[in-house]
Amino acid sequence: MQWDPALYLRYGDERLRPALDLLARIDAPAPAPAHVVDLGCGPGNVTTILKQRWPAADVLGIDGSAPMLDKARAAAPHCRFEQADFGTWTADTAPNVIYTNAALHWLGGHDTLFPRLFAQLAPLPPDLRAEFLAAYTAAVAPHYPRRPDGTTLLPFRRLFILARR
Ligand SMILES: C[S@@+](CC[C@H](N)C(=O)[O-])C[C@H]1O[C@@H](n2cnc3c(N)ncnc32)[C@H](O)[C@@H]1O
Repeated sequence: MQWDPALYLRYGDERLRPALDLLARIDAPAPAPAHVVDLGCGPGNVTTILKQRWPAADVLGIDGSAPMLDKARAAAPHCRFEQADFGTWTADTAPNVIYTNAALHWLGGHDTLFPRLFAQLAPLPPDLRAEFLAAYTAAVAPHYPRRPDGTTLLPFRRLFILARR
């Protein structure tokens, strides 16, 4: 598929809204992430917002379309951009955040793509990992109350990822 940045940006404001909603859901723990990737960055209008949120981070946009990347380099001069297929892309430096909006559905094989991307994330330091698990457990616990017999249905930690094409 050929991507036309001018056509894509014709409805730029409308397209930006879900991207900002998604960004608002990222509750990255301190310290601020040092390496942030915008996967399928398109014309870079979200990439530049990622840089505003984490100004000290190295923000890297990845996209397969050269015209989109030309636009992105102009829109976000403080970010880096590389042309790559995100199905095979491998990070040089393990990112703390991989952000991606309106992009992964363009590629199939999510059963292998998602684990591949997750595996590239930098691991949290042990104390932050413990902090995250405590907060996650506290958030999930009300949804898995103890039953009258003292047991909990599905008492193990899980991540639910729901995707549809
Ligand atoms: C709908 S645009 C989204 C752009 C941006 N993330 C946003 O939210 O505005 C989808 C982008 O994904 C890129 N893309 C689609 N398939 C790709 C692939 N396999 N590898 C790299 N980029 C891809 C396209 O070039 C396009 O720029």
